[in-house]
Amino acid sequence: MTQLQFRRNRRLRTSKTMRSMVRETILHKEDFIYPMFVIEGENVKNEVSSMPGIHQFSLDRLMEEVDEVVSLGIPSVILFGIPSEKDATGTGAFDEEGIVQRATRLIKEKHPDLVVIADTCLCEFTDHGHCGVVHGDEVLNDPSLELLAKTAVSQAKAGADIIAPSNMMDGFVIAIRQALDEAGFENVPIMSYAVKYASAYYGPFRDAADSAPQFGDRKTYQMDPANRMEALREAESDVMEGADFLIVKPALSYLDIMRDVKNNVLLPVVAYNVSGEYSMVKAAAANGWINEKEIVLETLTSMKRAGADLILTYHAKDAARWLEGK
Ligand code: PBG
Ligand code: ZN
Repeated sequence: MTQLQFRRNRRLRTSKTMRSMVRETILHKEDFIYPMFVIEGENVKNEVSSMPGIHQFSLDRLMEEVDEVVSLGIPSVILFGIPSEKDATGTGAFDEEGIVQRATRLIKEKHPDLVVIADTCLCEFTDHGHCGVVHGDEVLNDPSLELLAKTAVSQAKAGADIIAPSNMMDGFVIAIRQALDEAGFENVPIMSYAVKYASAYYGPFRDAADSAPQFGDRKTYQMDPANRMEALREAESDVMEGADFLIVKPALSYLDIMRDVKNNVLLPVVAYNVSGEYSMVKAAAANGWINEKEIVLETLTSMKRAGADLILTYHAKDAARWLEGK
């Protein structure tokens, strides 16, 4: 006669201390990168309507937020710029006096130890809202590379510690690496948006950054959400081209992809917990339907468990506070 056997897995959950001893994934405030939106103008602190708690700041008000980020012990911010004027080639992206370049200089002057990451893309600076230059309906690959490389160099010149190209043109990592090296920035790392899906979860960001495409969509350059093997191809390409970090974006619906990437590369993997993921949590929390703190910490933990070494998140300030028990 067979005897049924079972294991007492609950033994390791009997007390809070016991649970803390066998916990496999622990979030730290040092894991976080906080996204910030800088805008031309004076005395601007505009809340993004679809992203409660997230604001666009003009340069004269920016330090209010940066000081807070630093005091919370968050090690890094990523900057997105909203220029006053846009044109066909996104000139504002590589202007030495552009909004991101000036914000970078200002932040590094006051907080030299804060790691400033510059998002390198054209969509916030082009009048058509695409991430590269266009001809008719087509987003051109190779002509865009030159402008992206110029943008990256101007950001590094302004003092950016990391360059984060998000445009999804083929070859952008190597184009930027070569340009940075030629300009003497061989020690500035590239955090590539290597695996970036064409996602509806970016909706609120496009309000925040005023970067919605004016025609068509981004499906000829961003990835199809249905694809998994393609993510590894994208990751592999960027490793070969010399990336130093790989971003997987969005995060929550793509945790399987995060794990695949983590298991297949030897670079730090970064989760981008995007705007739509943030907005959904904020909306449900505002209705009293969920416990915001617990949901956010659980969600961020799941990203780390899936393989993320770092997490880009709009929740960073709150999460850092919660982790300190505040
Ligand atoms: C632009 C860019 C986007 C995001 C970061 N950089 C949007 C897009 O591709 O349309 C999305 C971030 C978010 O949703 O939080 N290249
Ligand atoms: Zn873009």
